Amino acid sequence: MTTEDMKTADAQAAQAAQTAQAAQTAQAAQPATPAELTSQVLRAYDDTPDARLREILASLVRHLHAFVTETALTAEEWMAGVRFLTETGQKCDAERQEFILLSDTLGASSLVDLLGHLASREPGATESTVLGPFYVPGAPHRQPGENIGRPQDGAPTLVRGRITDTAGRPLSGAELDVWQTAANGLYDVQDPQQPPFNLRGIFTAGPDGRYELRTVRPVSYPVPTDGPVGRLLRASGRHAWRAAHIHAIVSARGHQPVTTHIFDSENEYLDSDTVFGVKDSLIKPFRPASPEDPADVAYVAEMDFSLAPSPPSSRAPRTPRIPRTA
Ligand SMILES: [Fe+2]
Repeated sequence: MTTEDMKTADAQAAQAAQTAQAAQTAQAAQPATPAELTSQVLRAYDDTPDARLREILASLVRHLHAFVTETALTAEEWMAGVRFLTETGQKCDAERQEFILLSDTLGASSLVDLLGHLASREPGATESTVLGPFYVPGAPHRQPGENIGRPQDGAPTLVRGRITDTAGRPLSGAELDVWQTAANGLYDVQDPQQPPFNLRGIFTAGPDGRYELRTVRPVSYPVPTDGPVGRLLRASGRHAWRAAHIHAIVSARGHQPVTTHIFDSENEYLDSDTVFGVKDSLIKPFRPASPEDPADVAYVAEMDFSLAPSPPSSRAPRTPRIPRTA
């Protein structure tokens, strides 16, 4: 071996050592544990410009990774989850919101509602509950006492009460947007036999804050079970029934609107409502009508609503910003 050959061999050896070291360095940068991978992903979102989005993304990554790690999720289970969420999206259309239903049945909707309620707790204000997937904006305005249903829709019922502020002062002109199912358990948007906006209407409180409407006594109904959420409920051994209720969104100028329900106190699903929406203060008796009540109703329910004042910075009146769901 010549001196020149030795120099070449040394250079080659140095080159090989350099390459090996580079490879080792590259390997060290790769996460070796789940915790290292989670840290790497969190760092990738560190520069998200919007502070609230950054906070939400970081929390999402932390909890999602914790969920995958805790359950030792397999590739097959991960793919099954992807398929489930894909089908949930594919089940949504102009009249069906499977994602809200998924959120409702997992209790996420009620949790968001509860957190909002705790954050803006105003003593005496009517408690809120889930919107549900069947709200339709733009219901017709009705006259006081008007019937929102048809004779074949169920037991004729008078619902009445007052809309006030939290000090008990009447809120003249307050609006009450109500919707419910017929006795067959179906909303108008689910039932081709019902005309559009059947069992829906917006009522306006009088100078004394009073409102009055005719409808039917609400019944229990199962949430839609012909989609992925139905499969989830069956796989979990859960029933699909909602406690009988009338939906309401109450709003008034200068006050915080409330999205809520009136629940029938005699209903069998009050303790196991499939979307976790029942609150004690929203449960009311639907009593048989007495001789003093109007002759055309079989039941009477009384429900007062009380609204908290709007925060100073907000504009009034406000209505919830809700996409058309169903
Ligand atoms: Fe409902």
